[in-house]
Amino acid sequence: MEVDLKEQELNENIDRGKLPAHVAIIMDGNGRWAAERGLPRKEGHRQGVETVRNTVRCGSDLGIEILTLFAFSTENWQRPSWEVNYLMSLPEKYFQTELPELMRNNVRVNLIGEKSKLPAKVRKAIEEGAEETKVNSGMVLNFALNYGSRSEIIMAVNRIIDEVAAGKIKEKIDERDFTRYLYTAGIPDPDLLIRTSGEKRISNFLLWQLAYSELWFADVYWPDFSRIHLLEAVYDYQLRKRRFGKV
Ligand code: FPP
Repeated sequence: MEVDLKEQELNENIDRGKLPAHVAIIMDGNGRWAAERGLPRKEGHRQGVETVRNTVRCGSDLGIEILTLFAFSTENWQRPSWEVNYLMSLPEKYFQTELPELMRNNVRVNLIGEKSKLPAKVRKAIEEGAEETKVNSGMVLNFALNYGSRSEIIMAVNRIIDEVAAGKIKEKIDERDFTRYLYTAGIPDPDLLIRTSGEKRISNFLLWQLAYSELWFADVYWPDFSRIHLLEAVYDYQLRKRRFGKV
């Protein structure tokens, strides 16, 4: 009851005209959620997919334009092979069950990260999801898979070096030019970054793009993240004064 009242209050107080256009989320704490319940880590990830489902629905209902979810980092390959395999099975399952709802909610899917090193079935699932949903004009849902920000920046630098060598770049470049070489080319920077599980780290996520993002840390594990937490984060974001280095 208390939660419902708070949710109602937040709903009424959020200014729909001042929503963060781009919300990025570090979905953390699946393993700890499972351990606290005496369950295998897998169960935490399985429940984490439910939270993805729910968060996509809430974000889209609320009117968020872009939602970026950190689903698998370049460092996550170092986990035990059974866990990597399980995480790699999730995109396929997700699209099998979620595509109809993504279509109904007008959500467009996109992948950011190093595609070439993902297993073929994962690439296929995401590419098909992106292809099916490309007609949609509502919220853009970016899955960051095999994503690491430092390697993204190095990839961009190397692409620039190649273009210089090929004579395609003849002048000095600026910040705006640089962003065109990142996986996030064409995507505005996140306005709000949420990280769950109480950890307060960026963990090699969108280092360039988060330069002026507002940060919000939730004390719940990702499987327990719900609509009310998203509303709290958005409400808190609206109370902040973003100055972008100015006074
Ligand atoms: C971090 O929790 C979570 C991950 C590394 C995986 C996140 C993935 C999902 C929530 C599912 C993605 C869904 C799709 C459809 C691609 P952790 O395992 O590091 O938790 P811990 O820090 O408590 O061990």
